[in-house]
Amino acid sequence: MVKYTEEYKKERINLLISNIKKKKEFSGIDDQFVRDLIHKKLNNRELENIYNHNKPEKSKEFKNSVKLIRKILHETYGVFNLSRKRIKLLNQLKEEIKKTNKINGPTIDFHIKLLKTHKSTNERVDYYNEIYGRIFSTIKPEIILDLSAGLNPLSYPWMGLNKVKYIATELTNEDTEFLDEYFKSMAKFGLDGKTLNLNLLKTQEFPKSDICFLLKTLDSLETLKKGISESIINNIDTKLLIISFPTKTLSGKTINKKRLAWFNKLISNYSTFEIKNEIFYIIDKKLY
Ligand SMILES: C[S@@+](CC[C@H](N)C(=O)[O-])C[C@H]1O[C@@H](n2cnc3c(N)ncnc32)[C@H](O)[C@@H]1O
Repeated sequence: MVKYTEEYKKERINLLISNIKKKKEFSGIDDQFVRDLIHKKLNNRELENIYNHNKPEKSKEFKNSVKLIRKILHETYGVFNLSRKRIKLLNQLKEEIKKTNKINGPTIDFHIKLLKTHKSTNERVDYYNEIYGRIFSTIKPEIILDLSAGLNPLSYPWMGLNKVKYIATELTNEDTEFLDEYFKSMAKFGLDGKTLNLNLLKTQEFPKSDICFLLKTLDSLETLKKGISESIINNIDTKLLIISFPTKTLSGKTINKKRLAWFNKLISNYSTFEIKNEIFYIIDKKLY
């Protein structure tokens, strides 16, 4: 076997990363995240093929590796982003916000349109009153932490809060920048938001909060790194931890409840409720 220098191998992997990211859907994802995924998911034979080939981009193995990593990225990240109209809608929302001193009909309409541009919030949008009615009946939080938030922070108008510190984390800059813009425009309604770029597979140090949301994220992280959920849950310093899972697969098949047996073993002192396509666990972390 030929021995390649680390520098040479890195160059070859960079070539693979840039090919994967040529697709617009993945262009905002951090290189290091893609690099880690490549080293985790490609076996030695596949990596050797990339190092050995004179013109790797022309090789079948290289193309297959691009396909495989894109498939995983699509399932854990890209599939949830339903629309590129988001920036335009956010600008329209900002214009409406400028005209009013309280959240009114037009601002709510633009919130709904924005929430519908992400698969998870689209499925949840008609249920936010019910969800938050249950969650906020026992606690009025001063600080909310929303891990891998997606567009969930845009459900603030349904939380019935006048004022809150809201810390939202996401994987890519593109997503956190979008949330930052949203937070700035909503400051006048008591939403004091800030964002953090955070890869949950790597970092499990979290700011302290009263409520922490971890919605529809643990199952895909667990398939990428077994045992990661336990470490994430143990490191969250909050009073009420809200974790949710889809009850249907991406292709629409109902997920057997036994699929969550691994998770049920990790937690205690919790209650659950379901809406269409999603099960919520409300975990009392003080008693945990
Ligand atoms: C199904 S979406 C859920 C979004 C939001 N929590 C909700 O339920 O509305 C999963 C989220 O996990 C994020 N994600 C994927 N891999 C991640 C990782 N390694 N670290 C942090 N977040 C990740 C994606 O960006 C995506 O927003």
